[in-house]
Amino acid sequence: MKRITIAIDGFSSCGKSTLAKQLAHHLHYTYIDSGAMYRAVALYVIENGLVIDGVLNHAALLRVLKHIHIGFKHDDASQRSETWLDGRNVEHRIREMDVSHNVTLVSPVPEVRAKLVQLQQEAGKGGGVVMDGRDIGTVVFPNAEVKFFMTARPDVRAQRRYQELKGRGAHIDYESVLANIERRDTDDTTRKADPLIQAADAFVIDNSDLTSQEQFDIALGVVVKAIGVVTEA
Ligand code: DC
Repeated sequence: MKRITIAIDGFSSCGKSTLAKQLAHHLHYTYIDSGAMYRAVALYVIENGLVIDGVLNHAALLRVLKHIHIGFKHDDASQRSETWLDGRNVEHRIREMDVSHNVTLVSPVPEVRAKLVQLQQEAGKGGGVVMDGRDIGTVVFPNAEVKFFMTARPDVRAQRRYQELKGRGAHIDYESVLANIERRDTDDTTRKADPLIQAADAFVIDNSDLTSQEQFDIALGVVVKAIGVVTEA
């Protein structure tokens, strides 16, 4: 059976990675979290003093960009692919709020996007991949056989992210999580370089009122239909 490319785009915290992991697991595909790569660059600029008073030292980032090594390694214990930055596992660190706050400083930088898009295309070549992000169906894999565009109401997304961070022991209040989500929605949709837009051929899933199982069943139906069509062609 042909191993296709599945692109999942959408707003932050609307369950893209949950669906992507479910599909990858079910189909025995590789899951790639493209947002983790932008988060890793954000962590790099935080740790290397390239953000001062909320302002990114753009010139310094461009000087070091080609030396920043971002990759994924499969962790046998967790059975997950984890994000590495310059030889260190940063999978958990990049989910913390300071990284979430600073990621929109680096994600609009065209040179950062060019580097990460190239890494993503490399990682996904050959198919059998589920990748989630903001520009996967429009820029990274415009020819992906299946594209999903996911959305949910901001309050629903904030509640889910809040519970997730709380569950990991973070000291955080709901209002700041909601504010961060709303700010990232605006930043993601209004930036000049590869903004979040719905691909014309994407299947839209609003999961505000769907369980994760319901969402998975809908998505798998779309994928099975696509694989069937591809296989018969
Ligand atoms: O999916 P996420 O919330 O972990 O993504 C983190 C940030 O990275 C988000 O604010 C938008 C940005 N991003 C992007 O610009 N392009 C992608 N393909 C993935 C994420």
